[in-house]
Amino acid sequence: MTGQPDLVFDTADPEFVADPYPAYARVRETTSVWHPAGDHLWYLTRYADVHAAFRDHRLGTSFLHRYTPEELNLAPDIPVWRDPRWKDFASFERWELLNLEPPAHTRLRRLVTEAFTPRAAEGMRTKIQERARRLLQTGREVGSIDLVGSYAQHFSLGIICELIGVPEDDHDTILKLSDATIRMYEPAPSEELRTAANAAAKDFRQYLLKLIAQRRRLTADDLLTAMIGAVVDGERLTDDQIVSTSMVLLMAGHEAAVNATSNGIAALAAHPDQWQLIRSSKVSPRVALEEILRYDPPLQWFERWVLDEDFEINGVAIPLGARVALVLGAANRDPRKYVEPDRFNILRADANHLTFGGGIHFCLGAPLARLELETTIAELAQSEKELVIIAPTVRRSTFQFRGYERLVIALSETTNN
Ligand code: HEM
Repeated sequence: MTGQPDLVFDTADPEFVADPYPAYARVRETTSVWHPAGDHLWYLTRYADVHAAFRDHRLGTSFLHRYTPEELNLAPDIPVWRDPRWKDFASFERWELLNLEPPAHTRLRRLVTEAFTPRAAEGMRTKIQERARRLLQTGREVGSIDLVGSYAQHFSLGIICELIGVPEDDHDTILKLSDATIRMYEPAPSEELRTAANAAAKDFRQYLLKLIAQRRRLTADDLLTAMIGAVVDGERLTDDQIVSTSMVLLMAGHEAAVNATSNGIAALAAHPDQWQLIRSSKVSPRVALEEILRYDPPLQWFERWVLDEDFEINGVAIPLGARVALVLGAANRDPRKYVEPDRFNILRADANHLTFGGGIHFCLGAPLARLELETTIAELAQSEKELVIIAPTVRRSTFQFRGYERLVIALSETTNN
């Protein structure tokens, strides 16, 4: 390794969480593989390296298909689900798509892919537009809306809940369970958060088991019924597999999308010239959203296990069983790839980004997430001459899920301003 930057990525430091990009830049411009003393992670921050790592079969989201934790000499609480106190979270992780490698991953993913193709998302366009209009209407009546709590959460969660078959009355329950469970994915959650995450995973499972039992008695036109009826390689899915797959879809299906919406609208509000490009139809919402996703991604990094001996990146050896952080938030602003990477510019021709990952775990919900963002921007562009934030914005304190707690914007009474 060449020179080492004298800093840490302190995900508990509010300053770093508020704006990690300057720290990313220092690391990225100093070294291509960073392994600070005392940190268990090896960080990749350059676009080409992160892009390649997502596709590298010598790296895995899990190691269990090849090694036992003992073979990798892991401490008893690594990964977190080995700690018996978090056994309910562990039973979710056992069949979680993101935590599986082939062949189990291929088999489960194949089963739900059909529901999330670009064509399937397109088929939901009208319903999604209606949902956006309905939610925005409540804000139009009072002249403002909290884009997070009163709009995006209900919008994205409502869409994925409807797809899976969670009744409308239970959406708030899912929101609470999901928000608590995902805290386990933060880089260093406190004991208290872990306890709450484990309890939420348990309740989430119980909730879904009940719903599965109901669907067995009375089928419906939803993904849950489809999973119950599906036969893959001559076998039916177990309840555990259905629960984990439903949970990951319900959580991934709204947490990232809500944060992407707030990051995007905040960026557009901070750059009125860019908003006018959308308003005047010089740039379509469909094109603009790619720059939104590049500029401030709602998920900042993903980790992988090194699965092979003799693994190296750019001449740096990384040992078997080590964990590599693919810092897509840094890669998306790599000057080797982008012109003026820190500039928010929806006209850029090079907006293709790593925000949805890559390789076999590439975001399953990307077409749906894009359609949701496109709809929100298009609906607001029809009514708002300017995007005005009217109350202090509050960033989420979480690092892994990067977004806003609250983002209140002014809303006109009617569309077609
Ligand atoms: C802007 C919103 C979203 C972003 C930025 C995002 C990002 C990502 C990323 C980076 C990954 C790969 C993680 C890795 O390789 O370790 C991923 C996987 C995944 N995403 Fe998304 N996601 C979004 C929305 C959604 C939605 C709406 C769904 C809903 C259906 C969804 C479902 C999934 C699933 C199921 C996986 C796991 C796929 C697998 O392991 O094969 N995501 N997402």
